[in-house]
Amino acid sequence: MREELEKLKKRIADELSRIKDESSLRALEIKYLGRKGELTGVLRAISALETEAKKSIGRAANEIKSETQKKVAELKKKFEAGGGRPAIDVTRPVLPAERIERGRLHPVTRILNELEDIFTSLGFMVVDGPELESDFFNFEALNIPYYHPARDIQDTFYIDHKNADGRYDLVMRTQTSPMQVRSMLKYGAPLRCVVPGRVFRNEATDAVHETTFYQLEGLMIDRDISIANLIAVMKEMMSGIFRQPIEIRVRPGHFPFTEPSLEVDIKCTICGGSGCASCKHSGWLEMIGSGMVHPKVLEYGGVDPRKFSGFAFGLGVTRLAMMKYGIEDIRLFNGGDLRFLEQF
Ligand code: DAH
Repeated sequence: MREELEKLKKRIADELSRIKDESSLRALEIKYLGRKGELTGVLRAISALETEAKKSIGRAANEIKSETQKKVAELKKKFEAGGGRPAIDVTRPVLPAERIERGRLHPVTRILNELEDIFTSLGFMVVDGPELESDFFNFEALNIPYYHPARDIQDTFYIDHKNADGRYDLVMRTQTSPMQVRSMLKYGAPLRCVVPGRVFRNEATDAVHETTFYQLEGLMIDRDISIANLIAVMKEMMSGIFRQPIEIRVRPGHFPFTEPSLEVDIKCTICGGSGCASCKHSGWLEMIGSGMVHPKVLEYGGVDPRKFSGFAFGLGVTRLAMMKYGIEDIRLFNGGDLRFLEQF
């Protein structure tokens, strides 16, 4: 029996050394360790031996069993890990990785981000206002009563809701200016804020008119604010956007909520002032409506016009984006055409 055991041990070791894959390992495991396996049979037969032999032979047989089990387990592990080779064959050529398209910022968003940076560095806060606005803040509080002709050039979308006097009292805001009074009421004076946002007009759409576009409103209120402050801030803003010193000029204008009112033009960045198609050969570009805040507007905002004065301005951001990037058709901004958007 002892001899037989020795032979069995050798045979198993021999076969194990030749195992090359998982399936032959499995076959070997069944052959020797399975329920009807050879080693299992030997161990079973031992129980019939007398006590002394049982002890010594039993020990030897059990040793062979546990050694075999150990070796089988080792080989199994090796095959599972890819037969000793790395799981990923880095030498095999692979297809190029799929490119992930990165999104980009809309040209208007880019300009708004730059404007916000410029103004926060000048100590202005950036505030948001509602796009659906009350007739009061959009018109009345800006010194534009319901009968005022200035409403005609800012026709917009009215919501089907009337006040006690039977007049529509909710509008899609035509300008960011309603935030002037809202901000004064909320924060009081002194105050420095800018309001970027979408505005809406009832327009027949063409290359330069859209129903939806962007503005940036600005408001600065303090003691002794003058037109000099207004001009300085306008220069700073335009030079920041174009990243070069920009010359501006002011002309008299009219807005019901400023007195005096000014139109601020910038010297054409394309021709440098000599005249080109972009500036309609005038050398100047109209960009900003502005002025000193009307005392009535300050009063609507709860600010005492005898103590405080301020300037306000409204910048056409969509217009500015057209200028800066040379975009000729305003309809491209909201058109959703990726061929346009991917250029930025
Ligand atoms: N809200 C005016 C518009 O949309 C622009 C404007 C003019 C804003 C003068 C101002 C201002 O704050 O002072 O045409």
